[in-house]
Amino acid sequence: MRICESIEEMRKARVLISQDRRVGFVPTMGALHEGHLSLVRAARKQCHTVVVSIFVNPLQFGPREDLAKYPRTFNRDRELLEREQVDIVFAPSVDDMYPKGALTYVTVEGMSEKLCGRSRPGHFRGVTTVVAKLFHIVEPELAFFGQKDAAQCAIIRRMVRDLNLPVQIVVEPIVREADGLAMSSRNAYLSPQDRKSARVLYHALGEVRKGFDQGERNADALVRAGKRALATEPAARLDYLEIVDPDTLDPISDIRSAALVAVAALVGETRLIDNILLPPA
Ligand code: PAJ
Repeated sequence: MRICESIEEMRKARVLISQDRRVGFVPTMGALHEGHLSLVRAARKQCHTVVVSIFVNPLQFGPREDLAKYPRTFNRDRELLEREQVDIVFAPSVDDMYPKGALTYVTVEGMSEKLCGRSRPGHFRGVTTVVAKLFHIVEPELAFFGQKDAAQCAIIRRMVRDLNLPVQIVVEPIVREADGLAMSSRNAYLSPQDRKSARVLYHALGEVRKGFDQGERNADALVRAGKRALATEPAARLDYLEIVDPDTLDPISDIRSAALVAVAALVGETRLIDNILLPPA
């Protein structure tokens, strides 16, 4: 496994890969868990060469967010990726990715302000800017993302379409803990008490699904059921619970085709997100 710590090194490694090898790419911010590894395994199955990036992207964190304390576990990550037979780890520095005076951003206008974009202004602009840069540096044929960040997937798909980027986006299902909590690098912040409370996100989504399974198609009614379930946990403060079109992220009032039920809440000081698709994929 080769470690490239600069853009130049990554580009040199990229040109050595012969044209007939399919390159799969998994962008991450490190602190890897089974969710990330499921993407790596999917890439390993579908591609000849697998590149994983580890880069805690400052551009997608707000001024009062957790950039400084975001978990950084490079040595452990490297071992995990070696075990998954990854070919290249791309771990550039912040100065290399954002040289002084950088003024260019990629924004998917109109979508970047939805869901997490509303409470995290600039977040999705940071994501699309870094992912566009990573795509240009790594030049993958396929790139793998997790359904866990459903809005991120929709926005990146739109960016790829709008900018004619020559990459196919593959989305893999959410990997959960035994009790349903979606795996996240941020789960490490949870105190044992908050960890128990955090189950309420998946429970609330389950209540929405239950209503849907019983025939309810009115989104407001389903959202109310989800919010009622969330309110049973005093440690959780709701940011949003919405039912939207999975491609445009626009709100849906009556569910007639695929719908994304997305929730975000603060549990203690930790912001968690989760989602399900209706009807289940
Ligand atoms: P990060 O949070 O490290 O996640 C990297 C990838 O792993 C994302 O595609 C995310 O959706 C996926 N992932 C995380 N938890 C998952 C889970 N429980 N099940 C399945 N997939 C999961 O998302 C980012 O980093 C960044 O925004 C990035 C795309 C790297 C740009 O900086």
